[in-house]
Formats: sequence, structure tokens, C-alpha cells
Amino acid sequence: MPETLTITDNRTGKTYEIPVENNTIRALDLRQIRVKDDDFGMMSYDPAFMNTAFVKSRVTFIDGEKGILRYRGYPIEQLAEHSTSFMEVAYLLLKGELPTHTQREKWRHTIRHHTFVHENIKKLMEGFRYDAHPMGMFISTIAALSTFYPDAKKIFDAEARQRQINRLIAKVPTIAAFSFRHTKGMPYVYPDNSLTYSGNFLSMMFQVGGTKYEPNPTLEHALTVLYILHADHEQNCSANAMRGIGSSHVDPYSACAGAAAALWGPLHGGANEAVLRMLDEIGEKKNVPAFIKNAKGGNGKLMGFGHRVYKNYDPRATVIKKLAYEVFEVTGKNPKLEIALELERIALEDEYFVKRKLYPNVDFYSGLIYQAMGFPMDFFPVLFAIPRTVGWLAQWEEHILDSEQKIARPRQIYLGEQQRDWIPIDKRK
Ligand code: CMC
Repeated sequence: MPETLTITDNRTGKTYEIPVENNTIRALDLRQIRVKDDDFGMMSYDPAFMNTAFVKSRVTFIDGEKGILRYRGYPIEQLAEHSTSFMEVAYLLLKGELPTHTQREKWRHTIRHHTFVHENIKKLMEGFRYDAHPMGMFISTIAALSTFYPDAKKIFDAEARQRQINRLIAKVPTIAAFSFRHTKGMPYVYPDNSLTYSGNFLSMMFQVGGTKYEPNPTLEHALTVLYILHADHEQNCSANAMRGIGSSHVDPYSACAGAAAALWGPLHGGANEAVLRMLDEIGEKKNVPAFIKNAKGGNGKLMGFGHRVYKNYDPRATVIKKLAYEVFEVTGKNPKLEIALELERIALEDEYFVKRKLYPNVDFYSGLIYQAMGFPMDFFPVLFAIPRTVGWLAQWEEHILDSEQKIARPRQIYLGEQQRDWIPIDKRK
């Protein structure tokens, strides 16, 4: 069977044979299809990249129809169940293999070594208004990091690149926690490097009075699992932003800030915050049917439902739903759980949602856990951004080292005015 596609252009009667590789044609091969010799050539039009592969990647695999998610080949369910350390999964995403014991300890040590931020970063954060949104503070501070590390520009120097990767992974929890303490008017807590990645983050968030913070093991484990589930998700909006910005060869801090900005939107990582606001708006279980009816009528969406890629239950949502019960054993049940369960039950039976294959996604239950653990709603996107930094960096490094990549620069179909002559202001209508 020849690995080609034969295209006949009915405008000219000409036939073209286009190579097929990985069930894909190269869009540039379409350019030879022309009516006249001086035509630009054919393009493909694909708003929102619905059917365009922008990269060849070896990091994360998703089969949306089957509800499969794997990091470097390992199913997410296995990583969530067996990996007791987020650092191990971060290593896997970045290096392609699970670390040996020695590699893991060395990697942990390296990350711990970089958790502190320059005191001027603290001062910079103190400049934000008392009611600044923590995600806005997070994004701006990540961008500001590039001014502290001029060697970050050397993106093709392997050692310098690794240094920035280490710094970013180590410092994002610190910056995130500082943004939380700032909004609470509480003193910033410095990292405690005797704790795990999740444990240290909880300490920087919730330590009061300078005494050593001992994280609750169930909550610490839950946060680790949440970090693992959120670490990467192949070519989503923010990964695409990271790759797109990174393709200009800017430093990784600037690219990460852009990726975090993309994550903040309510259609992406901001959805977990939107879910809780929606549950608040619904208020009581008995109001669920009316809310669903409204959503079906085009009045707003069911936040935490639906996905561009998953046309099945999001595998992360399955793990999170189970995790929620473990967390509620410690924190007490989040009263909004009843509303969420009812919403899910009705939606999964409703023809509108069934026909469109709309299932709960990762954000549907994560907010309930975050809230039960004491995180405020506007902090949820920041909680998503901490582990996703690892995914962004894995995608970024793969991108800049890919010899097939160039600066990202899509084409357009221009439908505006053709050339016309300038009109003096008193002659304009
Ligand atoms: N509630 C009600 N209807 C929906 C929903 C929803 N949550 N999501 C999609 N639809 C409908 C949509 O109106 C459309 O209907 P029709 O065919 O009649 O016009 C159909 O389903 C297809 O939706 P779409 O908007 O074309 O799908 P998309 O792939 O462009 O959007 C999405 C995917 C995630 C942006 C969308 O499902 C959505 O807005 N969901 C709510 C926000 C949310 O939970 N986002 C978190 C995504 S998971 C975290 C992450 O990875 O970022």
C-alpha cells in the first residue's frame, strides 16, 4: 500500500501525489497545488488547530476517545497510584525515563538547592495591591525572574538551560505561596528544604507563628497526586503558548509567564475556580435541574464539563473523584460535593451532554479538594500552574531542540480591503 495521498484539483484537472507519514500530510506539500504559476499555492485553514499537528512530540500521549493519558508511556493512573514523589514524575517528563534511586535523590537535592528567591523578588511582590489576584502576581513575578538570571538567554547551552529549568521548578511554589501570603497580609514564609516538594509548599502557605510546620500526610499525599495529574497534557493552550513564545528563542521565564497567562483563562486552568463559583451560584441540590436546563439553552456552560480532546471520562477526573473522599476524611466533606455529584449524575444521563460527549474534566472535582484543604478560590489557577511548569519546560526544551522547528508564524486568509488610496479627513464619509 503506497504511503501517499492522491489529490485531484478539479479546478485544473491536475493530480498531485503527496507523501503520508504518521497518518499525516505536510501542509507545505499543499503549496504546489496552484491554478496559475504565480499563485501563492494552496493552504489549509484550521482555526484553533482542530486538526493540525504543530509538533512531533515524545512527552505525553492522549487518546481522547478512549480516555487515555500517558506521560512518556506510563499511564496516569499508575503514576498517580505508585509515584510517591512529584519530583520523580517531573524527572520522567523532562528526561524521558523514571529516575533510579540515586538519580532521584540527586534531582531532589538540586531542586531543594534552588527554592529560595532573591530578596528583591520579595520586594517586587510586596508592591502589588493588597487585593491583587494571586495568578496575576504569579505571572508577573515569573516574568520578572528573567531579569535576575541573564544566563537564561543562553537557551542552546545545555548547562545554562538545565539551570533555568531547576530554578523554575524550585521557585514556582515559593512565588505561589508568597502571592497567597501577600493577599492575606501575612509574612512570607521561607522554604523548608527538609520537607517534600508538596510538604514545603503547604508549609510556606499555612505555617503560622514561626513554628515548624508538619504537613498532614493525607493532604500532603493528595497534593502530590494533584501535582502529578496536572503536570502535563500535551498540546493544550498553555503548552502551545510556551512553544509558540519559546520558538522566538526568548528565555524560558518569559515563555513560562506567557504560558501561565494562557492557563489563567476560564476555558483552561481557570475552570476549577469557575466550577466552584458555579456551584455557589447553584446553591442547593434542588436547583441543579434548572441550572442544567439553562446551560442547555445556551445560557452559560457547565464549567468542569467537556474537553477539546477527551470525548470520554477524563482519566484525571476519575482519580481526583476518589482522592476527594480521602481528603474529606481529614477535612470534613465539602458541602458543595452533593451539588457536584447531582450535577454529574443528571448531566451524564442527559441527551444534550451524551450526544456531545461532554464528561467531567480534571477541573470538576479538583476545586472541591482545594477548597476543603483551605485554598481560596482565586488561588486555584496558581495551584494548577505549579506542577504544569514542569510540563511547559519539557515541551519547551523538546521544541527548541527540534531541528524541524522555526519561529511559529501561522498564515492567514486575508479577507480585508485591497489597496486603496488615502482620503483627506474632510472628504471622508
Ligand atoms: N457545557 C455546556 N455545553 C458545552 C460545554 C459545557 N461545559 N462544553 C461544550 N459544550 C457544547 C458546546 O456549546 C457545543 O455545542 P453545539 O455543538 O450545540 O454548538 C458542543 O458542546 C461542542 O463544544 P465546543 O465549545 O465546540 O468544544 P471545544 O472543544 O471548543 O471546547 C472546552 C472545549 C473545554 C473549552 C469546552 O468544553 C468548555 O468550555 N468547557 C467548560 C470549561 C472547562 O471546564 N474547561 C476546562 C478544560 S479541562 C482543563 C484543561 O485542560 O484546561
